[in-house]
Amino acid sequence: NRYAVIMAGGVGSRLWPVSRKSYPKQFHDILGVGKTLLQMTFERLLQVCAVDNIFIVTNDTYKGIVKEQLPQLAEERILCEPQAKNTAPCIAYASYKIASINPEASILIAPSDHLITNDISFASAADLAYKETNEKDQLITFGIKPSRPDTGYGYIEYHENESRDTVKVERFTEKPDLTTAEEFLSKGNYLWNAGIFVWSAKSIISALEKYTPQISSLFAPLLSGTQDDFCVKSAFQKCDSVSIDYGIMEKANNVFVVPVSFGWTDLGTWKSIFETNIKNEDNNAFHGQVISEETTNTLVKIQPNKVAVVQGLEDYIVIDNEKALLICQKEKEQRVKGYLKEVAKID
Ligand code: GDD
Ligand code: MG
Repeated sequence: NRYAVIMAGGVGSRLWPVSRKSYPKQFHDILGVGKTLLQMTFERLLQVCAVDNIFIVTNDTYKGIVKEQLPQLAEERILCEPQAKNTAPCIAYASYKIASINPEASILIAPSDHLITNDISFASAADLAYKETNEKDQLITFGIKPSRPDTGYGYIEYHENESRDTVKVERFTEKPDLTTAEEFLSKGNYLWNAGIFVWSAKSIISALEKYTPQISSLFAPLLSGTQDDFCVKSAFQKCDSVSIDYGIMEKANNVFVVPVSFGWTDLGTWKSIFETNIKNEDNNAFHGQVISEETTNTLVKIQPNKVAVVQGLEDYIVIDNEKALLICQKEKEQRVKGYLKEVAKID
């Protein structure tokens, strides 16, 4: 009864210029390990789920890339969205589709933009969550011990003294403001939402019906067998754009968390890539041929056929590819997204 869904339809704009709308970050070997983020996610899921039960949800325009990167995946398990409406419609589409194949399914939902460094501990957390959701009406999320008041994550309030493997979530707060995030961190009984969810098809469908009825009513016909293209197109055209975190997780009262200890990094920004990289003696991370002097804490990524010379840079990000060049202070990297409208006019 185990199924898994990889959400691979995001654009990854803060990792511009490597991640672009035409070829987003999940399809890149962004860590330089010889595999793309999508391939790494797929391999990790193969440890906990049969290959025939793994689905990818992505935009129509990326179908070719997915086929090329995952040749072992049957084409009918690539679910294509005609337009991106964030994660709630993506999950609704996959959930109704899987429920139409197996109403007893337990489904693990995985993002495609993470680095997980201990696959064994991931697998045991997944085993536990599959087992629980097979028996109980629980919406399970994986929780990470927070290390800074990051406003880009969901925060999970839980009861610290509970010693069971899955812990009831008191409150789920998606992307709080900085003051609230600092308050959560100082209180201590909060975890970050890793963005990995496990639930039965039944539980998620009943939550979708309850909290996002507009979306669920559009995808429910998938269960009755009218699965033609037109239905999918019009469903996405009509449905609200909302994330699963705002749409369901903040509202449902049967949310449980599995606190996990595997290495987890959301590869959302260049700084997060820098942090996972091996550094030289001046704490620089260089991808490609780079000659440096009086340079510290800097990330430089240069194309294989080029050489870069950097002098006097401290806390910078320099990313070069065939179409664009980014030079940005590391602390201001969140601004990258903001420049893209301007870039789109020329690009
Ligand atoms: N198919 C599809 N369609 N996938 C999508 C879409 C869509 O419209 N939008 C986003 N995704 C994919 C992204 O590619 C990514 O793999 C995943 O869904 C999560 O979306 P993000 O846009 O990256 O979400 P986030 O990082 O802002 O927030 C989520 O993840 C955090 C942890 O990384 C939330 O779940 C937070 O609560 C969580 O802390
Ligand atoms: Mg993300």
